[in-house]
Amino acid sequence: MAKYLRASMRWPLYLGASASLLALLLSDLLSLAVESTRSSILIRRSLQEILTGLPAPIACAQQVLDLSSISWTITSPNFSNISVPGAIPSQVHIDLYSANVIDDPLFGLNDFNLRWIADSNWTYTSAPIFTLKDGFSSTWLIFNGLDTFTSIDFCGHHIASTNNQFRQYYFEISEILTSCNYPVLSIKFGSATVIANATAAIPGQETWPWRVEGLFEFPNRHLIRKEQNDFGWDWGPAFAPAGPWQPAYIVQLGPDDIYIRNTLVDIYREGQLNLLPPDQSRDWVLNASIDYIGNLPYGTSLEYVLADTNNIAVLSGTLQNVTSDNASITGEVIIPNDAVDLWWPTSLGPQTLYSLTLKIVSIDGSIISSTSKRIGFRTIVLNALPINQEQLSQGIAPGNNWHFEINGHEFYAKGSNFIPPDPFWPTVTESRIRQLLEAVKDGNQNMLRVWSSGAYSPNFMFDLADEMGILLWTEFEFGDALYPVDQAFLDNVKEEVAYQVRRVNHHPSLAFWAGGNELENLELAIVNLTAPDELGRYVAEYETLFLDTIVPILFGNTRSISYSPSSTSNGWLSLNFSLPQPITERYNNLTPGSIYGVTDHYDYDSVHSFNYSTYPIGRFANEFGYHSMPSLQSWQQAVDSSDLHFNSSVITLRNHHYPAGGLFTDNYVNASKGMGEMTIAAQRWYPTPNKAESLANFSAWCHTTQIFQADYYKSQIQFYRRGSAMPERQLGSLYWQLEDQWQAPTWAGIEYDGRWKVLHYVAKDIYQPVIVAPFLDVTTHDFEVWVVSDLWSTISASVKLTWYDWSGNRLNISAHVLADIVVGPINGTRLLSGKLDEIISSYDPSNVLLVSEVTAQGSLPNSKETETFNHINWFHAERLSKAKLVNPGLQLTHSHVTSKFTVVATTGVAAWVWLDYPAGVVLNFDSNAFWLLPGEEREIGYRVKSDTTDGKWVDDVVVRSLYDNMLP
Ligand SMILES: *[C@@H]1O[C@H](CO)[C@@H](O)[C@H](O)[C@H]1NC(C)=O
Ligand SMILES: *[C@@H]1O[C@H](CO)[C@@H](O)[C@H](O)[C@H]1NC(C)=O
Ligand SMILES: *[C@@H]1O[C@H](CO)[C@@H](O)[C@H](O)[C@H]1NC(C)=O
Ligand SMILES: *[C@@H]1O[C@H](CO)[C@@H](O)[C@H](O)[C@H]1NC(C)=O
Repeated sequence: MAKYLRASMRWPLYLGASASLLALLLSDLLSLAVESTRSSILIRRSLQEILTGLPAPIACAQQVLDLSSISWTITSPNFSNISVPGAIPSQVHIDLYSANVIDDPLFGLNDFNLRWIADSNWTYTSAPIFTLKDGFSSTWLIFNGLDTFTSIDFCGHHIASTNNQFRQYYFEISEILTSCNYPVLSIKFGSATVIANATAAIPGQETWPWRVEGLFEFPNRHLIRKEQNDFGWDWGPAFAPAGPWQPAYIVQLGPDDIYIRNTLVDIYREGQLNLLPPDQSRDWVLNASIDYIGNLPYGTSLEYVLADTNNIAVLSGTLQNVTSDNASITGEVIIPNDAVDLWWPTSLGPQTLYSLTLKIVSIDGSIISSTSKRIGFRTIVLNALPINQEQLSQGIAPGNNWHFEINGHEFYAKGSNFIPPDPFWPTVTESRIRQLLEAVKDGNQNMLRVWSSGAYSPNFMFDLADEMGILLWTEFEFGDALYPVDQAFLDNVKEEVAYQVRRVNHHPSLAFWAGGNELENLELAIVNLTAPDELGRYVAEYETLFLDTIVPILFGNTRSISYSPSSTSNGWLSLNFSLPQPITERYNNLTPGSIYGVTDHYDYDSVHSFNYSTYPIGRFANEFGYHSMPSLQSWQQAVDSSDLHFNSSVITLRNHHYPAGGLFTDNYVNASKGMGEMTIAAQRWYPTPNKAESLANFSAWCHTTQIFQADYYKSQIQFYRRGSAMPERQLGSLYWQLEDQWQAPTWAGIEYDGRWKVLHYVAKDIYQPVIVAPFLDVTTHDFEVWVVSDLWSTISASVKLTWYDWSGNRLNISAHVLADIVVGPINGTRLLSGKLDEIISSYDPSNVLLVSEVTAQGSLPNSKETETFNHINWFHAERLSKAKLVNPGLQLTHSHVTSKFTVVATTGVAAWVWLDYPAGVVLNFDSNAFWLLPGEEREIGYRVKSDTTDGKWVDDVVVRSLYDNMLP
């Protein structure tokens, strides 16, 4: 295998190039970069060489050996018979599966069967690395991520031990190498489950009140710095994998070489402070800081080139106020406001990106090293300031704001929560993330909350989000527990925070940092309930970690990003920037009648699902949801065909809601509760399937749970969006959860292989910029119809409300509204209000339907193009389980000419029309899960993401509607 060598070369200085020639040639220079835009060391010819045509002497080349290029063997002290090839980056489960030692970890009940892997130690041993050379002044081992507990040996010498999955580690091995005959590297991974238990058993170890630690499967996850959901979660399996999960290198440096191991770029408006909206007329400050290994000569300077995406240099020069120590070099420069264009999230403007090249230059003008980052200019702030007088006069309730502002504009955040897309991160490729993020963008979402308790997102995910304009609310990896505050733990967290914050801060898609998941609304609330006397102590510890430890490091590295210690919270009470840690949390310091903070909502009593008086009223909704079954096609990937029925033991035990709360392999009691919630919700609200053919019945049941899920989320999303026009001035809804990490009943809208559930289509529909939505108060029977827009300018809309029966006959109901209305920016307008019973008068509610349709002209923010926005919403006056559904006589055709399907209802109204495609292909339809009037034809395009059927899937697409549930 070819070794991956990189070199940094040094060139003499050439003086006197004219500025215009410089600009012209910079694009050539930049295009010579071997790795163009991403963070890397570049092999590069200097501008001076291009100008003079003279090759420059190489002072000394550094050698970087990618450890993925050599052979590895995995063994275990617990199992003398196992010895298989290993890889880097990888994890033991992946390598054992490749070597056929184990079955597919995601199949059947392997979640339980493979716990022996987690409970054992594993050693990765390299082949001898004879390519390491003499003559370098230093040699280093660099690990971008080790999962998690290691003891590292080189040449038979112990080098170091590690205990944090999220840190980058680097160790000098120069001296050992000089006397090394047999250069073998071995990384011994200690069992994380054993070490977590051993840590809990250390005398004097901190303890917490009962139930504070959210226990899923393996215990004691909060004591170790490893992906928390590796120990189980309610939507995933527990494998607690081990291995070198990120790339690793051996770097050899000459006397004047440095190796760049991390780079911070922070871009903010002059005078900007975290958590406060900056003055948008000020110039930009670009702060850059490079972390390196090696020796920097005295008097080093930093130069930069800022180029646009066509590699045309926009600005270049020298950074000012340069400081350096033996680990990093830092400088800053003012970028004039008018020199650059802004980056915007999707649908709010263009995603303008720039390439920033940073060059470390020695006193004699030669380039010691350089690195490039792709950046963007934007401000993104969490505004949690008190509601001001002007806002009060707009009808906004007192309290505090809690919303995001991009480039000084408030906007409606639409999106979902992202979980680790696989239990094994090394299998997550760029193309998998691209497919997910395309679904996010296609789904009219502009923000993801990248949930804590997984892992920090890879660079390629941020890169894709930068390109697609998807804001990533990012979190430190803590959740559903309280954490230790001993000095060793805090020191470990400090290194993690500094590395991760610096690694990702240059991405314009980075929107926010939160300390962890559900800490204030759940964890401190549990303490308050179960051990109120100890609340003070645990709040103080919580602040030690999530404020006093994290904030000075975070705000010390970034002025551009806002922070909240907990994902769900009531926001801050006050800020004092003269302190190293400026935040005082509000907690329950609430004034009645005022509204604060961000909400989280789960209610598994499906009686309440469409009763919107049970939904929380807050400024922003960052989590809400209900679980559903994946499709039959997904189940077929993961269980034996004999298990394809609703309450099979395998299917039930793959449902981790509610979690086992320990290492049970027979969690029927808790799992059945979750299965029951899906069944009851389906029965309560929809006609339920009772088909003779068992597989068809199972498939129809799975699908019905998805309809309920989607219907419930839609009801909440339109409620939250209408909140933008209400006193709460609600400005965001992020549902739980975007996607699955295995095939199981979960809250996901996208199944493990990328197949969209009903939810993702419905969310796409209800996240359109302009929507019309009916609201029935189930208690008072007050009925309203609203048009809601999240566009930034006032729109004129025409709305048509038409009443039908299930056969598609128009009903003579007086509230036939045909209205022209105006809707303000990020606001809503009510166009109908009355008692439902009076509106539909003598008609039987079980045979009354309302079609609301809005058409509006307007422009997306920062766009001059006028667009037409359409939205249709169906309302049924009686729940569908009691409604008088008729056979809609659906017909489906496919045209090979247009590559579109056409669906038509011929005999009645079709509710929840669903195009279903076979296994072996992943695609998404332009729309799905819609309703049709008889005679109405709908053309549906599609985008194929992967296809193993050679196009034959087209013939196996079928259409169904809710009426099919009533067929035998
Ligand atoms: C497993 O590793 C731990 C340290 O991580 C060590 O204490 C223990 O002895 C090892 N067990 C075996 C069987 O090698
Ligand atoms: C860790 O402790 C739990 C009980 O608290 C026990 O069930 C489990 O077997 C232990 N795990 C290991 C690997 O020792
Ligand atoms: C460099 O530091 C000086 C003094 O603190 C400050 O006035 C100036 O703005 C800084 N330059 C830049 C580019 O930030
Ligand atoms: C929303 O529109 C209503 C009606 O025009 C108006 O009274 C209200 O102030 C608007 N809200 C905001 C936040 O602009």
